[in-house]
Amino acid sequence: MSDAPSIVYLNGEFLPIEEARVPVLDRGFIFGDGIYEVVPVYGGMPFRWEQHHARLVRSLGRIRIDDPLDPEGWRTLVHTLVARHPWPDQFVYLQVTRGVARRDHAFPQGVRPTVFGMSSPLPPVPLALLEHGVAAITLADERWLHCDIKSTSLLGNVLARQAAVDAGAVECVMFRDGFLTEGSSSNLWVVRGGWLLAPPPDRLILQGIRYGLLESLAQGEGIPFEQRPVGRAEVEGADELLLSSATREVLPITRLDGRPVGAGVPGPVFRRLHAAYQRAKAGNRAGHAAR
Ligand code: PDD
Repeated sequence: MSDAPSIVYLNGEFLPIEEARVPVLDRGFIFGDGIYEVVPVYGGMPFRWEQHHARLVRSLGRIRIDDPLDPEGWRTLVHTLVARHPWPDQFVYLQVTRGVARRDHAFPQGVRPTVFGMSSPLPPVPLALLEHGVAAITLADERWLHCDIKSTSLLGNVLARQAAVDAGAVECVMFRDGFLTEGSSSNLWVVRGGWLLAPPPDRLILQGIRYGLLESLAQGEGIPFEQRPVGRAEVEGADELLLSSATREVLPITRLDGRPVGAGVPGPVFRRLHAAYQRAKAGNRAGHAAR
């Protein structure tokens, strides 16, 4: 972590992180009753902001919290947070909870949502991970049936990630009823016979902003892509397995449950998508420089 002092946003104010306080009756604390976003920032410029904003608005709508800010308000919040920190690459975390109220499961009336934002340095993805890939384990997906909401209720994801860490892996590859869903905090991609496959973006997975991005990068690269249910045998016999997320970009999974995936090294589809991703990031930086 950098030593730069961290300024956060809380309910309309920018203040040092040490001074930011949320009441214990905040429903985010009591019930996990809130939603969040993680937005990567390259060269001082949020990457795919419109898509992140649209997902934030969608998540709010799904849990029936009125959007506390208009689009310009969100944009200003993010740009101000980014400008308050010296790191060229950052990731902005945004969270909205239903607010502070006496504990009762039902929605409180007339309560103002709590809005929180912070930014952290975004270190480059370690070269060793790109060159050797990462290990993952398979796991039953035991989360709820609204995984398309980017909810702060993340206990299922937290336990899944810890199971991976306990097994010496960095991510889990989850299945529900025999079909691939996603990782604890990433989307998953399967390469078979030159095709890039991804589970359909239904309620069983979070549709990552990189989900749409990788789809369009694959199109640009001439890599055939299909959204369809992917069975366990197809995953276990994959030529390549990839994960994607805001902070990990696109990474090859080269070991699954201790066995090599395909040749056990990062494959050609990963390399092409990774290179295309880096070009998209560079375009983001160049766009910023031109402003
Ligand atoms: N997680 N699926 C889950 C369950 C996730 O938590 C994430 C991202 C993704 C990928 O979405 P995106 O491409 O928009 O990052 C898929 C973030 C990074 C997190 O919780 O920290």
